[in-house]
Amino acid sequence: MLCNLEQQPADALLALIKLYGDDTRPDKIDLGVGVYRTGQGGTPVFGAIKAAEQRLVDIQDSKAYLGPEGDMGFVHALMPYIFGSDDPAMGGRIEGMQAPGGTGAVRLAVALAKKAGVPRVWMGVPSWPNHAQIYADLGMELKTFAHASKSGTTDMGALRGAIAEAAEGDAILLHGCCHNPTGIDYSNAEWDEIAGLIADAKLLPILDLAYQGLGHGMEEDAYGVRRVLAAVPEALIAYSCDKNFGMYRDRVGAIYVMAQDAAVLTRVLSNGHALARAAWSMPPDHGGAAVRLVLEDEGLTALWLDELDTMRTRMSQVRARLAAAGQQGGVDFTPLGSQNGLFSMLPLSVEQIQQLRSEHGIYMAGSGRINAAGLTMGNIDKFIADVAAVSA
Ligand SMILES: Cc1ncc(COP(=O)(O)O)c(C=O)c1O
Repeated sequence: MLCNLEQQPADALLALIKLYGDDTRPDKIDLGVGVYRTGQGGTPVFGAIKAAEQRLVDIQDSKAYLGPEGDMGFVHALMPYIFGSDDPAMGGRIEGMQAPGGTGAVRLAVALAKKAGVPRVWMGVPSWPNHAQIYADLGMELKTFAHASKSGTTDMGALRGAIAEAAEGDAILLHGCCHNPTGIDYSNAEWDEIAGLIADAKLLPILDLAYQGLGHGMEEDAYGVRRVLAAVPEALIAYSCDKNFGMYRDRVGAIYVMAQDAAVLTRVLSNGHALARAAWSMPPDHGGAAVRLVLEDEGLTALWLDELDTMRTRMSQVRARLAAAGQQGGVDFTPLGSQNGLFSMLPLSVEQIQQLRSEHGIYMAGSGRINAAGLTMGNIDKFIADVAAVSA
């Protein structure tokens, strides 16, 4: 039977990591893989996480099973950051469960929507490629609209058109902040409008928040999620701690459900637990426990927020430097200055991207997405000059 399986293409980004690793040029630049990098090019463990992990070794006295919901202390500790400190559970209408990374959370959110009878999901494109893969794997129909316009702003016309065309009961997936791959986020005024449009059209929002704190700050980056939740009766929120706590391989995430009342909430979560049990049984504990220890300790929380500040400052320095380069060859770097998070798209052809790799040792996704955190004050001028050379 196994012979019936067809060969699947390797994940393009993972293949790029391998190519980069095999390249012996000392001045090669990796803008492909989506992790934060310091000015020295490393992706170190956060100091706050190291301290929490050390504490965990000392105090953890059992690794016995938890349950499909994971570490609920972790799940609850995040809630004031996501939903606001006044009433993070919205009067008993929001509850969550731990998931294996943001990917597990997105998958569970889509699986729940599907099980609830949602026929299709609307999403702005381009998007994180795994979104479409998850819909396809779960047999969920995808309807797309343009996320951004050619001029580098959000395409509100396309979003309005999509919402007008969507049927009551459809889902719409939106990136909470730091849009991957474009870096182009909705403004607060746009979120105000979107929240009303989604509520009027009676759509189920699936809000993917994978980069909170990497845009303008933890509070600022939650604006869109909070605004939508204030306008609608129910929503699903997929959360990742893998970027803002630097946990990547430890797979730390959570899914939150906002339901119309506590009784529905309990029912939805029981389905979430059942789906998780059949998929991964329970999430890996270590990373979530470390994040919980950070959030339970004022000193470690302050250290973590400080480390997040440092990341954000570095990203805005890189972006400011790119924007200052203005038009270089066929690429205008100016818009990158006002984009958010790790990613931006460069208007380069497949041939130009290939040429950057073969002739200049610059590795980026085939879509033209760059991880701006791969740039340092030591390589940014070379990068700009090389882009200018291939796109002139
Ligand atoms: C938009 C978006 N959602 C979710 C995720 C999933 O993150 P995780 O690594 O926690 O699975 C990512 C990761 O790149 C992402 O970019």
